[in-house]
Amino acid sequence: MGELSVNHLLGIKYLNQKDIQLIFETADHFKEVINRSIKKVPTLRDITIANIFFENSTRTKLSFELAEKRLSADVINFSAAQSSVKKGETLIDTVNNILSMKVDMVVMRHPNPGAGIFLSKHVNAAIVNAGDGAHEHPTQALLDSYSIKEELGEVAGKNVVIVGDILHSRVALSNIFALKLQGANVKVCGPKTLIPKHIGSLGVGVETNLKDALEWCDVANMLRVQNERMDISYFPTTREYTQQYGVDKKLLDSLEKKIVIMHPGPINRGVEITSDVADSDQSVILNQVENGVAIRMAVIYLLASKIK
Ligand code: CP
Repeated sequence: MGELSVNHLLGIKYLNQKDIQLIFETADHFKEVINRSIKKVPTLRDITIANIFFENSTRTKLSFELAEKRLSADVINFSAAQSSVKKGETLIDTVNNILSMKVDMVVMRHPNPGAGIFLSKHVNAAIVNAGDGAHEHPTQALLDSYSIKEELGEVAGKNVVIVGDILHSRVALSNIFALKLQGANVKVCGPKTLIPKHIGSLGVGVETNLKDALEWCDVANMLRVQNERMDISYFPTTREYTQQYGVDKKLLDSLEKKIVIMHPGPINRGVEITSDVADSDQSVILNQVENGVAIRMAVIYLLASKIK
């Protein structure tokens, strides 16, 4: 088995095509493991991992914790809301205190873009970025591409549209890097106010008409409007947003081909997609969540093998 070109997973931007292939091959093995009656392997018995979350999370936090436990690593969990961060402790002090308890790897979600990169330069542990502000969410993009590959056989040559709030989305940026690296054709679609001005420089097309975007694509990755990152109004009302950029069953059924519907979660049912789309046979949303555990096991395993 090969090894990753990086010692940390800070963003898809720092990976190459071979890294992604290796992560997928390793995830194939772990997906088989987590579907056995005994879902656990003893591989990382000598590794301790701290999950430190400065922002809310359901899927990513649970998925990392489960991935670590399936690999038999020792796991500690830190949530900023119940910690001494509230008393003014800095990020470096917080993490160095955790590391002095003999921790080998830190999985971190943080509201500031670049927080993982900063940490990797100041502490002695492997860092995994579990989402840094509106910057990157690398394991989400890996599990998204892995799910496309599983559904359509390959990622290369497939047409993927990312719909919604591109401006505030770390999922969009990481997906663009991952999909382009694997040879997919990528478009973004949403209100002009929610699409970064220079996004074309990343090699993606821009479409403001949702129906045209859906007719073009094989896969639509529907994003949530990130109200928590907005300090001004980017569209008139949620109702108007949904009328122009929401996918319902009628729209889905009107398309000439059957497309795959993805969503990183959490879903706002009735805003970006209706319940009958989220729960339809074209939706792979729960497959994405299942694949997330295998992908995170692969990432942790491959990074841990560089520590030893
Ligand atoms: N997809 C995702 O990052 O979800 P959570 O915010 O619940 O972790």
